Amino acid sequence: MFVVIASDCTPGVIIKAAQALKDGHLVAFPTETVYGLGADARNEKAVNRIYSVKGRPQNHPLIVHISSVDQISNWGVEIPEYAMKLARSFWPGPITLIVKRGEFAEDFITGGQDNVGLRVPSHPIALALIEEFEGIGGSGIAAPSANRFGAVSPTSADDVKEDLRDYLAYSDLILDDGPSSIGVESTIVDCTKNEPMILRPGAVTVEMIESCIFRVISPYVEKNEVRAAGSFTSHYSPSAKVLLGKLTQAGDGFLAMSHIPTPKGAIRLASPTNIEQYAQILYGTFRSGDRQGLQRIVVVPPEGAGLAVAIRDRLKKAAG
Ligand code: TXA
Ligand code: MG
Repeated sequence: MFVVIASDCTPGVIIKAAQALKDGHLVAFPTETVYGLGADARNEKAVNRIYSVKGRPQNHPLIVHISSVDQISNWGVEIPEYAMKLARSFWPGPITLIVKRGEFAEDFITGGQDNVGLRVPSHPIALALIEEFEGIGGSGIAAPSANRFGAVSPTSADDVKEDLRDYLAYSDLILDDGPSSIGVESTIVDCTKNEPMILRPGAVTVEMIESCIFRVISPYVEKNEVRAAGSFTSHYSPSAKVLLGKLTQAGDGFLAMSHIPTPKGAIRLASPTNIEQYAQILYGTFRSGDRQGLQRIVVVPPEGAGLAVAIRDRLKKAAG
C-alpha cells in the first residue's frame, strides 16, 4: 500500500487516486465521519476486494458515495419527496439514505437487497476524489468504514494502516487528512417506505430530520429487522471488554465526560468536555485502550439527545 499524507493531497494526487479506483484498486480516504475504504462501485472485482480486505461477509450491503444529489437517479428510483428533501438539506454531509435501487446498483453492492445506501460526504478530499472519479467516467465509490470486520471504525489514516496494512496491495492507496471531524459513522435513514426510519443514529439527528421534513418520525429503535447498520453484536467493539457505567476495578480503563471524576485505581483514557468531542475521541480511545493491553474499559455514556444518541448506540454495541 502507498500512503499519501494530507499536505501532499494535491490535485495531482487526487487524479492519481481517482485513476487507481478506475483501474480497480482500492483507495482509503478521509470523510467527515470516519475513514472509508473505497472501490469503483460498478466494478465487481474491485468491490469484492473490499470484502476480502475487510474480512466482511459478502451479503453486507455497501454505501455508494456520490458527488451530488444530481447523481441520485443513476443509483436509486422511486425516491420519495421527503428523501429528496433530506438529500437537498443534508448533502454533502453525514447522512446515508437507503432508497429503492436503480440501474447502477447491482447485487454485489446491495448484498442482493432491492435497495441501496447513498451518501454525499462533505470532506473536501472525499468530494474531490468522487468528482475526479466521475470526471474520468466513473460513477460512485463504494466505501464501508476502512477497518477489519467487527472492529471499530478508523478515525485516522494511522488507524487504517494499523488495521489493513497486511491486506492492502502495493497498488492501493491511503489518503491521510488527519483525524475525522465527527468521529462516528453517518446517520442511516431507510427511505423506502412512506415514513423515514432511522437505522443508525449519527450526527444528523432525529431532531434535525424532523425539522427538515416537518413531521415527527419514530425514534431510533435499537434492534431492527434490516440486515445492516451494525446488527452484529461484534460490531464497533475493541478487544478490551467494554462495560457501561459499572464500578471500576484497579487497572480498568475509564472514559467519561470531563466533569465525572476518575474512580480510584482506574486509568483515565479521555475526558471529553462536550458531546461533539466525545464522538470525535470515542473510537481512538478504544484503540488506545487496546494498545495499552487493557482487559476492560469502563465507560460512562453521555446523557441527552442529539449526537449523544449515536454515541450511546455505539457504546451499547461495543458492550455487546
Ligand atoms: O459514515 C459512514 O457511513 C462511513 C463512511 C465511510 O461513509 N461508512 C460506513 O459504512 O460506515 P459501513 O459499511 O461500515 O457501515 C454501513 C452500514 C453497514 O452495517 C451496512 O450493512 C449498512 O450500513 N447498509 C449499507 N447499505 C445498506 C442498505 N441498502 N440497506 C440496509 N443497510 C445498509
Ligand atoms: Mg463499518
